[in-house]
Amino acid sequence: MAAVTLLETSALCKRFGGLQAVREVNFSLAQGEIRAIIGPNGAGKTTLVGIISGRIKPSSGTITFKGEDITRLKSCQRVMRGIVYTFQVTSVYATLTCYENVALAAQRRLMTGAKGFLTLGEAAIAERVESALDAVGLAASMERPAGELPYGYQRLLEIAMGLALEPELLIMDEPTQGLAEEEIAEFCALTRKIAGRATVLLIEHNMPVVLQLAHKITVMDRGTVIAEGTPAEIEADAEVQRAYLGT
Ligand SMILES: Nc1ncnc2c1ncn2[C@@H]1O[C@H](COP(=O)(O)OP(=O)(O)OP(=O)(O)O)[C@@H](O)[C@H]1O
Ligand SMILES: [Mg+2]
Repeated sequence: MAAVTLLETSALCKRFGGLQAVREVNFSLAQGEIRAIIGPNGAGKTTLVGIISGRIKPSSGTITFKGEDITRLKSCQRVMRGIVYTFQVTSVYATLTCYENVALAAQRRLMTGAKGFLTLGEAAIAERVESALDAVGLAASMERPAGELPYGYQRLLEIAMGLALEPELLIMDEPTQGLAEEEIAEFCALTRKIAGRATVLLIEHNMPVVLQLAHKITVMDRGTVIAEGTPAEIEADAEVQRAYLGT
């Protein structure tokens, strides 16, 4: 089956004052794939996905999602189209229960910008929340305040918050940061499960995770894409080894 393009960026640039964080990036994602973006600190990875999710305005360039130019849409409008982003830094509400955290997230997809909120019925919310918590293995902790969960579980809760938005594209920024070995294994299993219903874009420093999960890897360095290919191709790429793998 020929790959269907889900997302495409064209000559995307972002300057922060004199610093060019993202330069002329042409990046595209096929529907259903798991893509990893790797690269050294400061390469522009978070900035690139920030532009895709709408959190950061590009200096120039365009983004197309399912054939629609979304460059000027706000992040909540992108959420409504199914583009969901989980932060590099954990951002759950510590005093709310896991259920409440996910329920709040679930309602975001129905936010209608200028018109305020359109709420889902309680039963519909409960169903989404329970299914999202169940997917990440936190169904039993539904009534616990999020702040009481071990850090690794807070990261999983964040993913559940993303899943409750029923993403078509789920973007995760360093999801395994701070996770223990066995939590990382759970994360990998979870990501494969998610990939059955959404396209997954993840920024990840953990190479074993990248190599086992990604269908394709994009390597960034100093704001540009320096290589792209299958895990085997990237491992064999001399420029990547020099810039990133440190060999
Ligand atoms: N809001 C900002 N204002 C000024 N400079 C910024 C801002 N955000 C990012 N930068 C700079 O842009 C460059 C790219 O940053 P970015 O966070 O995208 O890198 P990254 O690849 O995600 O790095 P890391 O692996 O450390 O998360 C860095 O030099 C960073 O200092
Ligand atoms: Mg980053």
